[in-house]
Amino acid sequence: MSNLVLIGAQWGDEGKGRIVDVIADKVDVVTRYQGGSNAGHTIVIDGETIILHHIPSGMLREGKLSIIGNGVVVDPGVLLDEIERLRSAGYVVFDGNLKLSDRAHVVMPYHKDIDLAREESLGNIKIGTTGRGIGPVYEDKVARRGIRVSELIDKESLEKRLRSVLEEKNLYLTKVLDREPIDFERVYGEYTQYGEELKPYVTDTSMLLNDLISAGKRILFEGAQGVLLDVDFGTYPYVTSSSAGAGGACTGTGVSPTKIDHVFGVVKSYTTRVGGGPFPSEVSGELGLKLREYGAEYGSTTGRPRRCGWFDSVAVRYSAKLNGISGLALTKLDILTGFEKIKICVGYEYNDEILTNFPSSVEVLTNCSPVYEELGGWEDELSNLAKYSDLPPQARAFLDKIEETTGVPIFVISLGASREQVIFLKELFS
Ligand code: IMP
Repeated sequence: MSNLVLIGAQWGDEGKGRIVDVIADKVDVVTRYQGGSNAGHTIVIDGETIILHHIPSGMLREGKLSIIGNGVVVDPGVLLDEIERLRSAGYVVFDGNLKLSDRAHVVMPYHKDIDLAREESLGNIKIGTTGRGIGPVYEDKVARRGIRVSELIDKESLEKRLRSVLEEKNLYLTKVLDREPIDFERVYGEYTQYGEELKPYVTDTSMLLNDLISAGKRILFEGAQGVLLDVDFGTYPYVTSSSAGAGGACTGTGVSPTKIDHVFGVVKSYTTRVGGGPFPSEVSGELGLKLREYGAEYGSTTGRPRRCGWFDSVAVRYSAKLNGISGLALTKLDILTGFEKIKICVGYEYNDEILTNFPSSVEVLTNCSPVYEELGGWEDELSNLAKYSDLPPQARAFLDKIEETTGVPIFVISLGASREQVIFLKELFS
């Protein structure tokens, strides 16, 4: 048995989809366990870019089973669109290779309206959400007034549930948020149609996963967002509303922690963040813009420009400890070509003290100054290199410094967006 969780160890957008795609050929099943259409996992195959929001990135590997677990919040219109786009790109998607949990919660139109209205009212202290209704749908799940996939596919249950929930939602939308009410008939009609189209994929995925594990199949749990956006351990309240860390893999799929063998983290060679909230190693001015332009750092779900900065070892070490990360996949090393100096953040200075542990306080994180170690840059183009020994010495020194300051070995590096542009440094399963 060798089941593994792959998570983002920064603020998301580390290139998880790309790494899942590379290692999916070593597993039988890929399952998502949290997040929803806020995620945008980008994979480039033969020059064609595919962005997945709900469907695990393993779908792009023939013969793999893709599972959308109970912890994912599903926007049915977006999911159906995703299936259609995959089909028109030549992929076979059917009820034999895609399964959707009957316990997953459904994103409804009022969740998106509430998300957007709340963000608007927060002005310059807004979270900077993706506007996909993620916070409100998880809120309803915990408050026990959510609508699950099992109800979506059962017209009578949907009718009962939607009528009672809409009564409250419409009061909130009109009286508190000053928005238009939502029409029952319109939503019921639209969502019963979605239910019919999705029904063939729906099953009890927790039982399915446990049976597959008993049969000796290898499972890859694909995280979305990143540890620093985790609702418990991220830079709260500037976080998403789910457990993006490894713990979420158990609650979000119904698989016991005793069945998980490894946790790997994906990190970018620098740091990016989209949306509001603290970011100690953020770089402003020309250098920040250069990182954005070189790395094409624009959100794959919303198109927003990402904030950019240097690699932050304090943050990644924290992510690694919390999640038991035993190996790092480092992406976008090629982007650092052409920088005279490269910095790694190794501490935060706050009130004349050097902090080496990631603080919980947004106040501290906002007002601390990064302490950097500076390394020499390189001019060599990396994208076509095939071996570790081909890397310029400065790039190797950079990798060594990341391993030393995070305490985690790097098992793979990526030097470009296509499948071939990776170099494995260590065996994935030992
Ligand atoms: P929400 O998940 O849409 O509620 O957004 C909450 C915060 O998480 C915002 O700062 C978003 O920009 C950020 N976020 C959500 N999903 C992603 C992602 O997939 N990548 C990067 N940031 C994300």
